[in-house]
Amino acid sequence: MTESHKNKIVVVGAGNVGEAIAYTLMVRKQANDIVLVDLNEDRAKGAALDIAQGTSFFKQVWVRKGGYEECADAQLIVITAGIARKPGQTRLDLAKTNVSIVRSITRSIMEHAKNPLILVVSNPADVTTAAVTEESGLPAGRVIGSGTSLDTARFRYFISEALKVNIEDVNAYILGEHGDSQVPVWSAANIGGVPIDEYAAQVGVNLDKAAISKRTKEGGAEVIQMKGATFYGIAMAVSNIVERIMKDESAILPVAHVLGEEFGSWAGVAISMPCIVSWDGVEKTLELPMTEEEKEAMELSVKTLKEFQENVIV
Ligand code: 2OP
Repeated sequence: MTESHKNKIVVVGAGNVGEAIAYTLMVRKQANDIVLVDLNEDRAKGAALDIAQGTSFFKQVWVRKGGYEECADAQLIVITAGIARKPGQTRLDLAKTNVSIVRSITRSIMEHAKNPLILVVSNPADVTTAAVTEESGLPAGRVIGSGTSLDTARFRYFISEALKVNIEDVNAYILGEHGDSQVPVWSAANIGGVPIDEYAAQVGVNLDKAAISKRTKEGGAEVIQMKGATFYGIAMAVSNIVERIMKDESAILPVAHVLGEEFGSWAGVAISMPCIVSWDGVEKTLELPMTEEEKEAMELSVKTLKEFQENVIV
């Protein structure tokens, strides 16, 4: 592998989520060099070795442990580090801890990388995206939060299940917060171009939208309650974002980044909107036409995140 052909992705945080991301990237050969960075070096080394030992069943990919100096020539850096909420700990306390962790990681990245492209996954995903943007001083489009990409995947899955239709034909978004104030944009949902209500009527299904919205919102909690954590879903969501970036696709994805001045009172808030994503990160933010009710829900999500950001990022 000559340096010029090197395609490197650094994953910071080798916990369940970072490890599942590295595994998914390897299986899909989305880079030929995948580096895991973690304060717990044994954990990073063990996770990398476990995955590396299986590479003989796939194509050649190097999976290894490394340090922050690896960020210097990485095409993409994925931040997954953070702690999981402890019993009795509030969401705000967790946010404060994880914001301080991602800030310190960002400083280490910026010591080595000139103009990195960073994908932020650590929870609370929107607030950490805002913190990494601020700490790095990078243009907002170069710090992407996984945001509602996972919620959107869950939404599409539950819709496809209810309508018994191919998931690839389900066009529907969850926007706003990766959290309780998320917004299911039903008015724009369609199945193969047919508005969803019309599709449901045509196939004779009584679609319980409220139940699907609720199950989507609680999708992470439902899994956590049964197996203690979620990691495959987020790994696949990240793998999809990585693919669109590495292939410079100008794909439209529901991801978070800090909104610019053109968004008026929403400016400065990291929140998920449909974005055109390419090699350079977020190229453009799109505005999806919405009903009044959906617009109000988006306003509420912005307000929630704004307050959250103000309380956490001081
Ligand atoms: C999830 O939604 C917990 O944010 C994580 O799966």
